[in-house]
Amino acid sequence: MTHKIAVLPGDGIGTEIVAEAVKVLNVLELPLEMETAPVGGAAYEVAGHPLPESTLKLAQDSDAILFGAVGDWKYDTLERRLRPEQAILGLRKALGLFANFRPAICYEQLVGASSLKPELIAGLDILIIRELTGDIYFGQPRGRRVATDGHFPGAEEAFDTMRYSRPEIERIAHVAFQAARKRSKKVTSVDKANVLETFQFWKDVVTEVHQQYPDVELEHMYVDNAAMQLVKAPKKFDVLFTGNMFGDILSDEAAMLTGSIGMLPSASLNANGQGLYEPSHGSAPDIAGKGVANPLATILSAAMMLRFSLNQPEAADRIESAVRAVLAAGLRTPDIWSEGTTRVGTREMGDAVVAAITGKGITKS
Ligand code: IPM
Ligand code: MN
Repeated sequence: MTHKIAVLPGDGIGTEIVAEAVKVLNVLELPLEMETAPVGGAAYEVAGHPLPESTLKLAQDSDAILFGAVGDWKYDTLERRLRPEQAILGLRKALGLFANFRPAICYEQLVGASSLKPELIAGLDILIIRELTGDIYFGQPRGRRVATDGHFPGAEEAFDTMRYSRPEIERIAHVAFQAARKRSKKVTSVDKANVLETFQFWKDVVTEVHQQYPDVELEHMYVDNAAMQLVKAPKKFDVLFTGNMFGDILSDEAAMLTGSIGMLPSASLNANGQGLYEPSHGSAPDIAGKGVANPLATILSAAMMLRFSLNQPEAADRIESAVRAVLAAGLRTPDIWSEGTTRVGTREMGDAVVAAITGKGITKS
């Protein structure tokens, strides 16, 4: 059976890093059919919209989406519906990609790249599970109006709506508990139940769903405390489970702790196992086109795609071992470079992963 993959490189470094992941996928000799389409600012340029109909259709008709990154400062002045970020939000919504997996792993060789002391993060392996299609990101109503109450009646105001329904919380809670079962069987559910009704409900529903998982330990933590614990004692977390907004913030914090945001993949899945795979980092317009971006997060996202959506776990293992091999050989893009290692560019890094997979050996240039 051929697997159909939509390849959406996007903006900034997106094209460079996705090209390396495609190169890696190609050497695996799997029945993959890849088709590329524009997304984000790149799509706005050619089609006047960040998520053109044709790109959305390709994504919907594919088994999986390999996504680069979207966004560039030059689009900041466009009206919101035309900004690059709307492409990824639109894909999440249209495909129902509610379950976002963001591992934050500290690679042994990169311990020194973290801003935290090595002993705090050596061996760190957190899985953040972020609900991705609800919360204040998508809640209606939202907009601008003239206030009729509040501190300044008559003043111009803006508003968004934080909301979660029971089924939305239940389905992502099941995802979190099931993921924990395959790891160290501990879930920390992060909320703000002391202030927000939405998150008191979140806490109540998560507690109910937990009854079906007596083998998994559940802990509740307020989001402000979670932000603090992440820098104080990050290894206490295993599965960190939360809503869309808090998950956005805490996943950046956790990723940066590892010192290797250029290394971290992510998966966003829907109920059919269809998924979008993208690096956890952004489009980095400041280094775009220079050939220095780290392609490993995207290459590892391709591995997640093979494992989660295409049922090819051996191929995923091959990619992940190859990545460990190139790190062990001392190859580093500038974002993870340190004294005594070999600085390489985007393409050389991709070539090294290919060489490690095909057994041709890793060449340091
Ligand atoms: C992310 C990004 C997106 C988000 C933006 C680009 C809309 O920051 O995937 O974390 O806020 O979810
Ligand atoms: Mn984010």
